[in-house]
Amino acid sequence: MTRACSDALVDVLVVGAGAAGMMAAIEAGRRGRRVRVVDHADRPGEKIRISGGGRCNFTNLGCGPANFLGENPRFATSALRRYTQHDFVKRIDGAGIAWHEKTQNGRSLGQLFCDDSAKQIVRMLTDDMAAAGVVLSLKTGVTRIERSGEGFTVILSDGSQVTAASLVVATGGKSIPKMGATGWAYEVARQFDIRVTETRPALVPLTFEAGLLETLTPLAGVAVDASVASAPEGAKARKASFNEAMLFTHRGLSGPAILQISSYWREGEAVVASMAPGRDVFEELKAAKASNGKQAVHTALGHIVPRRLAESLCQREAASGNLADLSDKVLRRLDQAVNAWAVKPVGTEGYRTAEVTLGGVDTAALDQQTMQAKAIPGLYFIGEAVDVTGWLGGYNFQWAWSSGWAAGQVC
Ligand code: FDA
Repeated sequence: MTRACSDALVDVLVVGAGAAGMMAAIEAGRRGRRVRVVDHADRPGEKIRISGGGRCNFTNLGCGPANFLGENPRFATSALRRYTQHDFVKRIDGAGIAWHEKTQNGRSLGQLFCDDSAKQIVRMLTDDMAAAGVVLSLKTGVTRIERSGEGFTVILSDGSQVTAASLVVATGGKSIPKMGATGWAYEVARQFDIRVTETRPALVPLTFEAGLLETLTPLAGVAVDASVASAPEGAKARKASFNEAMLFTHRGLSGPAILQISSYWREGEAVVASMAPGRDVFEELKAAKASNGKQAVHTALGHIVPRRLAESLCQREAASGNLADLSDKVLRRLDQAVNAWAVKPVGTEGYRTAEVTLGGVDTAALDQQTMQAKAIPGLYFIGEAVDVTGWLGGYNFQWAWSSGWAAGQVC
């Protein structure tokens, strides 16, 4: 009975028990605020649990504002500086969670993962919430929000009512609706006349039209280390390139390099892939021709890119037979096909598989130190709900920790 009474009158109501919401709740609870967190899912931190293949890429050592997209990427600077990746690492260390940094071909990527399981992070956060006196109500949504005096009256899905001085919206974006993503934060923003920027799936595989797909289907499962660039006409802000793995799939292209570039790509535009970055394919084929002209061209190309890809490219460029029979013109065509492959996706796999939502609650309406809505004191938006979207590699969780921490200092 006492619990029910106190749950109905709190200082802070956080909606969303994801990375950002739990972080804000812990910080506010530690300040002595009476905090309640509601979430319509039956478990907290589900995206943390499934992320990074179950090991959660929880931050990136190189995290900074340059790793984020949004109408005003500088907005993230304050929170990222005040609660950094190193602060979160200290927290993980304090909880005794072992971690490692991912490397690729001996290169450190700055991406930190749990050695054991992402569940350890969820447990750390739920333990910290309990220790800070935060009340967590699962399987509980929100049906209505009303402004009441200085605070908010919130009607929950079970019909009960909560009055709170501060309302923290931490319900994430629209990606993976199967996991309960709703885009509800945008409805709350609109209710309070706060603009929401255009939202679209990001960190998502790109898809091809049927004709192109038919020619590329035999390559499904082939992976290459590639450099993939966006090719926007005139839109400087969307020029980007990423050097990471690229994967051919039954629907189009995926892999880290493609997920990264998907955040910059727009309908009608091409992406340009270099599938042997830094290698002069023409010179290498010419040298192979000089040393062993009897070698089949697809075999020679197969020493530069995976064999199946080499065969497909030779077929597409009508390059068959032995190297000795091929002119420089054909070898240059192969060079282009490998290192300047411009391809126009027709779309993305959408929110079904997107790791994040690009766009969200307009940062111009929020205070960058506290995440509080400038025009509505007591209302906060944090995490993925906000128009701050990170690259692949632990940046999105860092934004969730940093923005949640920032709100938690004042809400
Ligand atoms: P998040 O989505 O985590 O939490 C929102 C919470 O609100 C959820 O618990 C949800 O149930 C709840 N909710 C939603 N609507 C509600 C409503 N109407 N009422 C009540 N509750 C509601 N990032 C990264 O940095 N490293 C990584 O390894 C990965 N990996 C990864 C894998 C996959 C498959 C996905 C989909 C995403 C990632 N990400 C990632 C992105 C990362 O998961 C994401 O950016 C953060 O979880 C965002 O944290 P939030 O707390 O803002 O939202």
